[in-house]
Amino acid sequence: MKNSDNPWKTIPAEDYEAHMGNPLVGQLQALGYITREVLNRYHPNRFMMLGCCTGNGFEHVNPEITKQVIGVDINPDYLKIAGKRYGAKIPELKLFCLDLNEDWLPELEVDLVMGGLILEYVDPEKTAVQVQKVLPTGGIAVFVIQQTGNSSFVSPTGIKSLEALGAISRELDPHEVQSVFEACYFELQELQEMNLPGNKKFIRLVFEKI
Ligand SMILES: C[S@@+](CC[C@H](N)C(=O)[O-])C[C@H]1O[C@@H](n2cnc3c(N)ncnc32)[C@H](O)[C@@H]1O
Repeated sequence: MKNSDNPWKTIPAEDYEAHMGNPLVGQLQALGYITREVLNRYHPNRFMMLGCCTGNGFEHVNPEITKQVIGVDINPDYLKIAGKRYGAKIPELKLFCLDLNEDWLPELEVDLVMGGLILEYVDPEKTAVQVQKVLPTGGIAVFVIQQTGNSSFVSPTGIKSLEALGAISRELDPHEVQSVFEACYFELQELQEMNLPGNKKFIRLVFEKI
C-alpha cells in the first residue's frame, strides 16, 4: 500500500480516541495502563513509542527518570497533538512522522521500545529489524497485540472513519511475533494476557535484545 493510501492518515484523532476510549472497547485505558507499568518497571533513560498516535501513555513519563522520549507515527496530525499535550512536560520529546513499512527510524539509540497495537498494521519483520538497530544489547522491546476471540478486529462503536482499518489490520499469532523477533536476536522474557471488554484480549510480549 502506498503511504498516501494508508487509512491511518485520514482518521481524525478525536474519532480514534472516542473509539478506543469507549467503555465497550477500553483499549486506550488499557494501553495507558501497560505503558505506566512498563515505565515503572524498566525506568528507561531513553524511551521510544512506535505508533504513538496522540501520545497515549506519555502522561506516565517521569522526566526526571526518562530524559528522552521518541514518538513515531505515520499521521502528522496525531504527532502535532502529542507535541502540544506533552512537549512542555517532556523537554526532550522528539516526534518523527514516518511510515514504518517504508522508512527507516532515525539513527539513534534508546533503552526501551514500546509498540501498542502497531504490529498489526506494519510488516513485523521489518519492524523487528528496525527495533534491533535502535536498541543496545540488553535493551527491552515491549509489544502489545490484540486477540479478538469471535469478534471483529475493529469493535463496532459506530464511528465510521475507523471502519477502513478492518481492511488493513491482521490479527497476529503471538508465537509468530516471537519467532520474528527471535530471528533478530531478541529473547522472549514474558508473554502476558490481559482481558478486555467484548471478549477481546491483549497479549503483551517483552523481549530483551541479546
Ligand atoms: C491502534 S493505534 C495505537 C496507538 C497508541 N499505541 C495508543 O496507545 O493509543 C496504531 C497507531 O499506529 C500508527 N501507524 C499505523 N501504521 C503505521 C505505519 N505504517 N507507520 C507508522 N505508524 C503507523 C497509526 O497512525 C496509529 O497512531
